[in-house]
Amino acid sequence: MAKFLVQKCGPLNGEVVISGAKNAVLPLMAAGILAEEECIIRDVPDLRDVMVMKEILRSLGTEVEEVEESVLRVQTRTVKTNEADYELVSKMRASFLIMGPLLARTGSAKVYSPGGCSIGKRPIDLHLKGFRALGAEVVIEDKYIEAKAGKDGLIGADIYLDFPSVGATENIMTAAVLAKGTTIIENAAKEPEIVDLANFLNKMGARIKGAGTDIIKIEGVEKLKGASHTVVPDRIEAGTYMLAAAITRGQILIKNIVPDHVKPITAKLRECGVRIEMTDEGMYVIADENPHMVATDIKTLPYPGFPTDIQSPFMAFLTTAEGESTVIETVFENRFMHVAELNRMGANIKTEGNKAVINGGKNLEGAQVIATDLRAGAAMVLAGLVAEGTTEIAEIYHIERGYEKFIEKFKALGANIFKIVS
Ligand code: EPZ
Repeated sequence: MAKFLVQKCGPLNGEVVISGAKNAVLPLMAAGILAEEECIIRDVPDLRDVMVMKEILRSLGTEVEEVEESVLRVQTRTVKTNEADYELVSKMRASFLIMGPLLARTGSAKVYSPGGCSIGKRPIDLHLKGFRALGAEVVIEDKYIEAKAGKDGLIGADIYLDFPSVGATENIMTAAVLAKGTTIIENAAKEPEIVDLANFLNKMGARIKGAGTDIIKIEGVEKLKGASHTVVPDRIEAGTYMLAAAITRGQILIKNIVPDHVKPITAKLRECGVRIEMTDEGMYVIADENPHMVATDIKTLPYPGFPTDIQSPFMAFLTTAEGESTVIETVFENRFMHVAELNRMGANIKTEGNKAVINGGKNLEGAQVIATDLRAGAAMVLAGLVAEGTTEIAEIYHIERGYEKFIEKFKALGANIFKIVS
């Protein structure tokens, strides 16, 4: 089993270039199902999840090839089957994002129902509510979800999302682009990845307005054409490296970052005493001037609130900030599994329901810990950078799913991190 070994290192210094966003590239690739012509997607990160999405698209009959490093050609001349392969789809929850495009392109789709995961039940009721509102008949079999458009195809509708679900907004948007008439999504998710997908779809000839606000209007069109697009930078990867500078009291220049997309992280780090400057080169995160970082309070919310995906990495940093911090997780129901792992390293964190109280300023000790999800894995690496001795992190496949060149980028900043296979 592969593990990461992380040893205490001094302040991280240097620069890091942020990759294209995992949570943008996956819906963008799925949207390639919607057009017969070729789509070119640039800044595609080299991730296991991207590899899985490539295989799923190929199983449907889509041509997917890497024309050069980080550039994919995606072309769906015809859809060979509208039933996604169970083995492939069961490897990654985000595979469900092919449902909307498949339904729009062929009028039917049969996809393995994504289960929950360690951070929560991850229901898909809002996705199905959207498909039904567009006139599709949706049948839930034991492991599969099957959706079939009505005899006149999908019909535009007004859809209210009880929660601004990212995936549901993406699936409904990609289903509605070829529907007859207009679709309004109310209480839509506003994440930058939603805007990136809408921009790509509009380049393909879709007519989407309001992406990035809570009301998205989609006027259905007959057909979409090919387009080319560059994936938006990964704000969660960027936040992870901002925290790497903060927790090690170093100084890192972060390149290929959209400052607006990390505003909540910037604001909170400034409250703790980190200096953050935006320059033409990128974002300087300067934490080597103020060794006494102070506590703050975090509450995760849908965008533009504090991102749930940065909650665990930020908590790792808060264990080193003097005073009592609180973290409230409002997006997922079970996203504190990293707390027990951090406490094994000497942190003093107590949880009660969706609230964690961190009594910071303690020195951490290296320990054997596990990555309980993608972002918690990154949190354990951050903690390992400042813990005395060596920290051994198991279940690191989570991390490799979502962070491109993770080891290389950290080593280039001066981190002592190694991958071992035992
Ligand atoms: C996306 O997941 C991201 N994944 C997640 O990133 C991210 O944490 C999440 O958005 C929130 O920002 C991808 O984009 C591939 P949601 P998604 O639907 O779409 C409830 C990472 O680490 N909900 O916005 O699954 C749900 O239970 C991953 O990169 C319903 O109730 O998130 C949850 O509590 C982790 N019914 C909340 O909404 C539904 O039909 C947020 O889920 C759908 C969701």
